[in-house]
Amino acid sequence: MTSKSSRISGFYNETLGSRLDLLKIHSGVSEEDIRALSGEAGLSTELADLMIENVIGIYSLPLGIATNFLINGVDILVPMVIEEPSVVAGASFMAKLVREGGGFEATAGKSLMIAQIQILDVPDLAEAESTILTNKDQILGEASKADPVLVKLGGGPIDLEVRPFRETPVGPMLVVHLIIDTKDAMGANAANTAAERLTPLLEQLSGGRVHLRILSNLADQRLARAKCNIPKEVLAFGEYSGAQVRDGIIEAWAFASVDPYRAATHNKGIMNGVDSVLISTGNDWRAVEAGAHAYASRSGTYSSLSKWSVGPNGSLEGTLEMPLAVGTIGGATRVHPTAKAALQLMGIETAKELAEVIISVGLAQNLAALRALATEGIQRGHMSLHARQVAIAAGALGSMVKTIADRMTSEGEITFERAKAILHKISKD
Ligand code: MEV
Repeated sequence: MTSKSSRISGFYNETLGSRLDLLKIHSGVSEEDIRALSGEAGLSTELADLMIENVIGIYSLPLGIATNFLINGVDILVPMVIEEPSVVAGASFMAKLVREGGGFEATAGKSLMIAQIQILDVPDLAEAESTILTNKDQILGEASKADPVLVKLGGGPIDLEVRPFRETPVGPMLVVHLIIDTKDAMGANAANTAAERLTPLLEQLSGGRVHLRILSNLADQRLARAKCNIPKEVLAFGEYSGAQVRDGIIEAWAFASVDPYRAATHNKGIMNGVDSVLISTGNDWRAVEAGAHAYASRSGTYSSLSKWSVGPNGSLEGTLEMPLAVGTIGGATRVHPTAKAALQLMGIETAKELAEVIISVGLAQNLAALRALATEGIQRGHMSLHARQVAIAAGALGSMVKTIADRMTSEGEITFERAKAILHKISKD
């Protein structure tokens, strides 16, 4: 990971060009990567045409840089792709507060993916289960042949689990889980190919009929965890004391811990951070979304993915744990020029490092939302940025965007019609 500073004071107030200059200085990435990140270069239609079907063009989104992140003692400038205002600013600001407590501590384990194999028409579930487990080594050996390169890299199939379902809408079924270490790949292809390869052997061993062979997005053997501790004094602002902010955040989290209606929104805030880094690095954010929400339901009741409590010396302690199946090789990560540049910017090589950054950003984003909700409310910060988007939609350009947005915010009327009227007046003057 990069060892340059992620503290770029006043980055927010710089012009777009100056931000790029600062990025060059603070990250040391190449001109080519800067061009890809800035949108000057990046994905071409020719490349896009090779990625999916029926391509007719390219759809762009804003790419912002979250500053201040200190993760496991390393400074990281985090590229975030998102259309929603306040997210990048929120992450950067919370990372600044977390720095005061030593930064984020993050861990990610091995890249263990689960490939599921559904077996139907099994004459005797218990006997099939026992036969499959007895022949585990043979099955793992066969699955390993699906990807010799992965095995050479130290990965590949490592374990097997068998899950009998005695009653389903189509009768009994046996589900085999093949656990594969996919190293620095997200692993969908490795998991699916290995699962497909096992069809004849599993049919022979179980006496049944293999039906589906596909990875599970509930990657609960591939968890990432982040922790932060913020001194309570650092949390104080305006009329709010540090203890008030801390306790307000804990009360807000408690709401999400018991109520699925609130937990869905709480976790959505976490995913604002998680998804925007997934997208910037060309990762499959739908897969991570699916895994996150399934994991949030593991107790039987959908709940918060994070936890907030009083830490040592009255600090605010936050933790976040969720499955993070991400890759730094394969898929779009090594094809999309901006995704490649995003990894370069962070100095990330392994899937583990990437997961550790993403989980930290998710925790920062959760903190940003809870801090705002527990104090002045979310709308204040949101509205000024929303006003800018309304001004742009009304046709404002350059410095006019801010002028019109500020005017509408101070008047308390942020509408397309009002933006049009102000724009019309400015243009006439
Ligand atoms: C908005 O995108 C995200 C929040 O709703 C998250 C939350 O409520 O915790 C602000």
